[in-house]
Amino acid sequence: MSPSDNTRVWLITGTSTGFGRRAASIALSRGDRVIATARSLDKLDDLRSSADDHADRLHLLQLDVTSGSAAIKEVIDAAAAHWGRIDVLVNNAGYGIPGLLEEGGTERLRLQFETNVFGLMDVTFATLPYMRAQKSGTVVNIGSRSAWRTDRPGLGPYSSSKAAVHALSETLATEVAQFNIRVLLVAPGAFRTEGIYGQQYYTGNPIADYEPLRSASIKALKSVPGSEKGDPDKAMEALVDVVRGEGIAKGREWPGHLVLGEDAEADIRNKAETVIEVLNAWSDVAKGSLMHSRLHFSNLKYGLSSSILAESIKSPNCDWLIATSPRHQ
Ligand SMILES: NC(=O)c1ccc[n+]([C@@H]2O[C@H](COP(=O)([O-])OP(=O)(O)OC[C@H]3O[C@@H](n4cnc5c(N)ncnc54)[C@H](OP(=O)(O)O)[C@@H]3O)[C@@H](O)[C@H]2O)c1
Repeated sequence: MSPSDNTRVWLITGTSTGFGRRAASIALSRGDRVIATARSLDKLDDLRSSADDHADRLHLLQLDVTSGSAAIKEVIDAAAAHWGRIDVLVNNAGYGIPGLLEEGGTERLRLQFETNVFGLMDVTFATLPYMRAQKSGTVVNIGSRSAWRTDRPGLGPYSSSKAAVHALSETLATEVAQFNIRVLLVAPGAFRTEGIYGQQYYTGNPIADYEPLRSASIKALKSVPGSEKGDPDKAMEALVDVVRGEGIAKGREWPGHLVLGEDAEADIRNKAETVIEVLNAWSDVAKGSLMHSRLHFSNLKYGLSSSILAESIKSPNCDWLIATSPRHQ
C-alpha cells in the first residue's frame, strides 16, 4: 500500500471482459489505482470511457501473458514506473481449451499451460522484485474449482493447468511470506462471464474408440453457457473486499484461499470427503509402507548401546539397524 495516500495500485491481467474487467472497475470504484492490461488495448476503450470520474487512477497497458519473460518484464517495468509501485497483482488472464486428453496429446496440454500457468508465472516473476523491494504486496491467482473437480471428460487440459496454478500459489505463498507478500488463491465455480466457454472443442485428432465419450462431453459442455449460477460482479466485489480487508472480509484473518460459488464449495467438499474416505479405508497400507526406523548404534560390544539394541530388536518396528563396532578392541 502506498505510504503517501493509502490507496493501492492494482495490476490486473485479462481485463477485456469477465472477472478481470469487473475487478478493475470495482477496485477503481473503491478509490484504488488500476493498471488494466489486455492483449488488445482496443478492447479497453469502453473501460477508459466509463472511468471518466477516475481517469487519473486508470492506466492501460497492452499485455499478452504468453509473450515471453523478456517482453513481459518490459511491460511490468513500465507498469511499476507509472505510479512507482504495484501493490496487488491479479493474475486473471486465462482460458480453457476443451478436448479429450489422448486426442489432444501433449501439444494441447502445452498450449493450455502456456497461458494459464507459464504466462501467470512470468507475470508474477516480473512483479515480485517490486513487491520484495516494497516489502509488501498481494498476488491474487485465479485458479478454479476444476482443479478439485477433475473427473469431467474434456476438461483435462484446463483442470490440470488450474491444479498447477493451485500448487504453485501455495508454494509461492510460503516462499514470499518473509517479504510481507501475500498470495490469494481464488477458486471460482461456474460464473456467467463473457468468454470462458468461447473455445471450440478439440476434434482435430479423432480416435474412434472415444466417439461416444467425446459426443457426450461436447453435449455436456455446450449445456453450461447460460446456466452458470455465479454472478461475476458479486464474486469480484468479494475478491476486492478480501484484498482490502473490508466488507465481507472486515475483521477476518487473511484466508489464503477464496472459494467462490456454491458449486465450487460443493465440489471441493466432495473431493475432500472422497480423499478422507480413501485415507480411512487404506490407512493400514499408507502407514505400513513406511521405511522402518533406522537406528544407529556405535560401539555395540559393551554397555548401554548393546542393551538398547537387544530391546530394539524385540520391537516390531525395528527391522533396520545399523550397528557399528570399533575394529580393534
Ligand atoms: N467464468 C468461470 O466460470 C470461471 C471459473 C473458474 C475460473 N475462471 C477463470 O477466471 C479467469 C477469467 O476468466 P473469465 O471467466 O472472466 O473469462 P473471459 O471473459 O473469457 O476473460 C478471460 C480474459 O483473459 C484474457 N486472456 C486470455 N488469454 C490471454 C493472454 N494470452 N494474455 C492476456 N490476456 C488473455 C482474455 O482476453 P481476450 O479478450 O484478449 O481474449 C479475457 O480478458 C480465467 O483464468 C478463468 O480460467 C473462470
